[in-house]
Amino acid sequence: MSLVLAATNESALIDLRAVAKTYETDTGPVHALARVDLKIKRGEFVSLLGPSGCGKTTLMSLIAGLATPSEGEVRIDDMSIRSPYTNLGIVFQNAELLDWRTAIQNIMLQIEIRGLDVKTYLPIARKLLAQVGLKEFENKYPDELSGGMKQRVALCRALIHDPEILLMDEPFGALDAMTRDQMNADLQRIWMQSKKTAILVTHSIDEAVFMSDRVIVMSARPASVVEDLQIDLPRPRSLDVRDTPEFNEYTAHLRARFKALGVFSND
Ligand SMILES: Nc1ncnc2c1ncn2[C@@H]1O[C@H](COP(=O)(O)OP(=O)(O)OP(=O)(O)O)[C@@H](O)[C@H]1O
Ligand SMILES: [Mg+2]
Repeated sequence: MSLVLAATNESALIDLRAVAKTYETDTGPVHALARVDLKIKRGEFVSLLGPSGCGKTTLMSLIAGLATPSEGEVRIDDMSIRSPYTNLGIVFQNAELLDWRTAIQNIMLQIEIRGLDVKTYLPIARKLLAQVGLKEFENKYPDELSGGMKQRVALCRALIHDPEILLMDEPFGALDAMTRDQMNADLQRIWMQSKKTAILVTHSIDEAVFMSDRVIVMSARPASVVEDLQIDLPRPRSLDVRDTPEFNEYTAHLRARFKALGVFSND
């Protein structure tokens, strides 16, 4: 019995099996994903790194059930995903907050749309706002918040219903470097507390290594997985870890990988 339990715990929460995606467009088919096999365990933090246009957002949409694969199968918790999967939260590059709603009202939108009990979740929204350092800002409107603050509110909105999976599609891409560093540190803390299974799309090799248990490197379109790199740096990681030889070994390796793929060129 215990053996069976151990096997279940080790099995993938998210399981992409030979997933391919082709978009039919007016100008012909666009092959976004060639064949992706990827297993993500419960509680893992995984980053997707790949050149622009290679199909990272497409992959996220397939996991969220917002699009269906042309071939292969997406499975979550051993169920085949063919329609929007609701036990997840998503953060996009732009916070996508509603201008006419305050910070807390934007977070509560998730609860209202899902038909959940507002009274139960209001204290949870306040607690999340406090965790991201925005206790005093619950009644501010988006145009009174900085870019980093808006992304924090978006993160709270993605977490308020306590989903099992957190998907983040370049959530910090538009932020300045110092705000981004702070967001990375805060996200790590929140992720360690909440034990979500997290997938982060990023163009930053440093961010991917800092945040992740595993970094998945994707090739140019049509994308496939070209490397699955385990990051064995102890947690919690302080931002200073980025100055260590171990950290720099990972980032140098990934940079060399992209150079070999023809993504970077000095010539
Ligand atoms: N709905 C769609 N219809 C047609 N083609 C699409 C659609 N969505 C994406 N594509 C195409 O699929 C390919 C992959 O797009 P995708 O947005 O997944 O890339 P990405 O890796 O997220 O890029 P970026 O890093 O720039 O965000 C691109 O060539 C894009 O033009
Ligand atoms: Mg994208």
